[in-house]
Amino acid sequence: MKLLVINGPSLNLTGYREVEIYGTKTYLDLVKTLKKYGKEKNIRIDVKQTNSEGKIIDYLQDALYKRYDGVILNAGAYTHYSYAIRDAITSISLDVIEVHLSNTMAREEFRKNNVIRDVCKASFEGKQFDSYIDAINYFIK
Ligand code: DQA
Repeated sequence: MKLLVINGPSLNLTGYREVEIYGTKTYLDLVKTLKKYGKEKNIRIDVKQTNSEGKIIDYLQDALYKRYDGVILNAGAYTHYSYAIRDAITSISLDVIEVHLSNTMAREEFRKNNVIRDVCKASFEGKQFDSYIDAINYFIK
């Protein structure tokens, strides 16, 4: 099995940005944690990050062309307003799992608006790196 993890805007600054919300572990720590877990479970985990909306869409399409078994997506703030990313999710015949480091529903009002949740297979949030681990486990079953 191979899974593609796509991280959106500012997630590369994890460990440095708003540490009281996102924690002090870095983006590199996240990548290492996911790769290590994948190895333990015998799954290939590829991890991408971009600050651009269009690039997230390119990665979603790549997941289909490159025959990934599923996608784990942290679209960052695009989660709250990007219909383009929503359409990209419904355009590919792959299970997409939404993840967030923080609990978006317990934060500012604007974060409660989520335009991708209902087109994702499942959502895991508020558990920092463990949100991603829960998403990997979703595919393992
Ligand atoms: C986030 C939550 C989003 O609301 C925010 O814009 C982010 C990070 C998270 O992982 O908690 O950039 O996706």
